Amino acid sequence: MSTTMFEVSYKGDFINGRFVPVQKGDGEFKDISPSDLNDLVMTVPFKHDHIDEACVAAKKAYPAWATLSLAERKNYLMRLKELFDSHAEQMAQVISRDTGKPSWEALTEAKLLSGKIDVTLNHSLNLVAEERITNALPQVDGVIRHRSRGVMAVVGPFNFPAHLPNGHIIPALIAGNTVVFKPSEQTPAVGQLMAEIFEKAQFPPGVFNLVQGDGAAGGRLVAHEHVDGILFTGSYEVGLKIKQETLTHYWKILALEMGGKNATIVWEDADMDKAIYESLVGAYMTAGQRCSCTSRIILHPKLAEEFTERFYQAAKKLTIGHWKENTFMGTLINAAAVEKYIRFQEIANRENCESLMRGKALDLKHKGYYVTPSIHLVKKFDPNSVYQKSEIFGPNVAIYQTDNFDEAMTIVNSTGYGLVMALFSKDKALYEEALFKARVGLLNWNRTTNGASSRLPFGGMGKSGNDRPSAHYAIQYCTVPVASLEDPTPFDPTKILPGMNLDLK
Ligand code: NAD
Ligand code: SIN
Repeated sequence: MSTTMFEVSYKGDFINGRFVPVQKGDGEFKDISPSDLNDLVMTVPFKHDHIDEACVAAKKAYPAWATLSLAERKNYLMRLKELFDSHAEQMAQVISRDTGKPSWEALTEAKLLSGKIDVTLNHSLNLVAEERITNALPQVDGVIRHRSRGVMAVVGPFNFPAHLPNGHIIPALIAGNTVVFKPSEQTPAVGQLMAEIFEKAQFPPGVFNLVQGDGAAGGRLVAHEHVDGILFTGSYEVGLKIKQETLTHYWKILALEMGGKNATIVWEDADMDKAIYESLVGAYMTAGQRCSCTSRIILHPKLAEEFTERFYQAAKKLTIGHWKENTFMGTLINAAAVEKYIRFQEIANRENCESLMRGKALDLKHKGYYVTPSIHLVKKFDPNSVYQKSEIFGPNVAIYQTDNFDEAMTIVNSTGYGLVMALFSKDKALYEEALFKARVGLLNWNRTTNGASSRLPFGGMGKSGNDRPSAHYAIQYCTVPVASLEDPTPFDPTKILPGMNLDLK
């Protein structure tokens, strides 16, 4: 990893193929690195009118982009792929500065950007390939085609500020849609670098646009009349708001990728070393700030004592530090996230859970939003407990015990969320039972809850999503299936329906 510090300076919103700096904006926010509160990455002014301008540009660019051949659109994406690759180190550094993620982890994210282009072109496009159906009706052939939708609003989260929006942007563009992207206000520098890369790739003006802003800007974007689809990744609360605010916008498709409260079951026959390692990665990677993190571990009593002790000892030794130090864990995103994390330590205690390891704010050499991992032992399962059912989005794990697999599955399904579950057991029948009973979009066997594959769909049930899974399946909500019956034969008067008289000559 390079030690060069790449310069970041504010350039403006990217509208209709050029950067437009905000003059006389509606406000500004400071992009301060959570790893070092003295590191001001940039100051970002924002202007709500820019959202309207970006939507107009995207709508204007749409017909020409949509009518390019697939091969022509692929050429643009292949150029983008090369640029994603050549900017991976720079992108990783900006991700680290904006999010506090350690360098190694940010580089993994940066490298996923070009990988998404490969997966989309080589695999996901096959899901929407033209299909001809012989005799779709007697003697009439059918064709299934997928056309683009129009202008897609991509609203991004802070935790994967490049990879997750990119997971919507690439399929949207290849399918022939145009895009207006609003990155999280926590990670505007990452958003800007994405736009700089698009500028270098020389897409036609208006095909990709970026507008910076906060939640209000996101609200204005998703409500815009030119927007045909909303591809959102973020919290359940904001996803619900978007759904409510666009209830009468009948023409918009909503793909809502939302939160999680994911559970791992470790059964009596599990590979203990593997279950401990994978659960540590699941619970604490990205400082617990992944929708796919492991928040709950349900242990069979036969291994509970050993698992808990070894998990605790290993959690104590996880390294935490500035992104440049390449530790296991970086920071939480901001002061509000630290406050929420600390508040949940108290809520857990108040609700009768024992702190095996209490999470604290950590004072390090660099002043930032560092916290220690935490573990709570749940004495009694309670589906109404605020601690047991809320997404904390920090490095906390709740440990349960039961020897009854049915009860374990009840715990898994008890939070309203339904994103990921993991099962550690050698027993395939138990895995099959879980597949039948779990209300989740992803169920991993002997593998942790996080670290999703772009080759598979990624989406959840309940409060985690709206049945429009992303990743490999994103291409589906970026397109509309159009069915045609094609009949080249001349009119056959012997086939007219009873009771009709056409006075045929
Ligand atoms: P968030 O919901 O606070 O913000 C997400 C985005 O929504 C931001 O860009 C924000 O500005 C915007 N926004 C806020 N109010 C809005 C409104 N009224 N209308 C439109 N946009 C609005 O989420 P976050 O804190 O950035 O990210 C963390 C959350 O995202 C967690 O809940 C996590 O589980 C979830 N997440 C889900 C997935 C998934 O694929 N299911 C992936 C990553 C993160
Ligand atoms: C996320 O989308 O927040 C995480 C997905 C993953 O763990 O790979």
